[in-house]
Amino acid sequence: APKARPIGPVTKGSPEQIAYMQCIEQDFTLSTEKLEEIKNHFKSEMVKGLDNEGQTLAMIPSYVEGRLTGEEKGHYLALDLGGTNLRVVLVTLEGNGKFKTVSTKARVSEELKTGRMRDLCDYIADCIDTFLAQQNLDNVTEELPLGFTFSFPVLQSKINRGVLLQWTKGFSCSGAVGKDPVLLLQDALLRKHVPVKVTALVNDTVGTLLSNAYQKPATLAGLILGTGSNGAYIENMSKIGKWKDGKTTSDEMIINMEFGAFDNERTVLPLTRFDNKLDRKSINPHKQIFEKLISGMYLGDIVRNVVTDMMDRNLLFNDTQQHTEIISAHYAFETAFMSSIEADGTVDLGVTREVLDTNLNLVNVKDEELRIIKRLVELVGTRAARLAAMSIAAIVEHTQVEEQGVDIGIDGSLYEFYPSFEERMYEALEVLLPQFKDVRRSIRLGLARDGSGVGAALTACVADRMMRQHKS
Ligand code: GLC
Repeated sequence: APKARPIGPVTKGSPEQIAYMQCIEQDFTLSTEKLEEIKNHFKSEMVKGLDNEGQTLAMIPSYVEGRLTGEEKGHYLALDLGGTNLRVVLVTLEGNGKFKTVSTKARVSEELKTGRMRDLCDYIADCIDTFLAQQNLDNVTEELPLGFTFSFPVLQSKINRGVLLQWTKGFSCSGAVGKDPVLLLQDALLRKHVPVKVTALVNDTVGTLLSNAYQKPATLAGLILGTGSNGAYIENMSKIGKWKDGKTTSDEMIINMEFGAFDNERTVLPLTRFDNKLDRKSINPHKQIFEKLISGMYLGDIVRNVVTDMMDRNLLFNDTQQHTEIISAHYAFETAFMSSIEADGTVDLGVTREVLDTNLNLVNVKDEELRIIKRLVELVGTRAARLAAMSIAAIVEHTQVEEQGVDIGIDGSLYEFYPSFEERMYEALEVLLPQFKDVRRSIRLGLARDGSGVGAALTACVADRMMRQHKS
């Protein structure tokens, strides 16, 4: 990602605009004390979730036992559902921490996201079928094993079994909540005679952790900072108080935290009225409150809520003939626009002007209005990065990481493409984790590209291993 070119607090404009922006600065800025308070609450919520079922931080055991060595080998199929795209991936693990992938991508239409689960599964089965034909794998004699990355809150009961607790990120298919996504998909594959057997079910954060660990054995956690947000980390079995499923093959297990739901009670997060509005207008009000502060699906809309509020108060686009139709529509201001605006280092903010003009049909925007909008973007983007870092600080303290440090694998569009997102995360980690002499060396953030795809393959691989170990 390019660097952000921040312009800082607004000093030009009408007295009303400046006064308004001063309030906004306060509302969106997270002090170190506040961040620390949030971190401490996050840590105690982690413990609660590990001890009891049904907590806000679900802390779901992934049934992925033990670690990887990087020597794992073989061909695996993976399916990745849960963001903007559906992907089918053929992964070849080469040992020595290296892998190759071949994949296809298909967009999941709004219709599929909100229709019947049966139709979605049929569509997926067709995509897999087409992919197999392309790869000359459609005439196999034995069923191919497939790892299924299904990036929603699933309460697992085995490495390849679980029930969907609820939809997130704009999905709402009927006939899925309370059911096992593996069985639903397997059913479609059978109906369509696709020779594939789903052997592992995995959250994208768990997949990201595994794919990072395959290359960097000191990996502690995997995060997704994309359309949605969530994290997974390696926990000692002895700390999972709610575990009742008997002996495992290892004394460690990966936990899918489902931290997007953190503070659904709204006790510590400093929510503004713009966040409340976003929540209220979402398809899942009162749910995924933390996710709505830090994820690609929502950040643009927070900015849009402030902009439209200023418009309502005659503080923006006031004396020009503006076309305000587009900006008035839900989700019209995409987080990708924020990335372009953040990276705008031109003196006249020409890039920002262009973004508003081409995408939102806002023309003749005044210079001070451009500066206001750029500043709003900075504030919302920075708050997101600092809150995302807070979750890492909490995991690090909970697991008592030592000075020699750990790797954290991160995937997702925000982390990969949003200007200076990572840098802002490090800045927050520096103040949140003063016990480390050099946080950047000890808490090593890194892009785990294609964590979901490769991670699903690795989970299928762990599933094989566990099956052999449970037998012997
Ligand atoms: C949402 C899902 C979660 C997933 C995350 C990132 O928070 O509930 O399972 O890991 O998005 O994709």
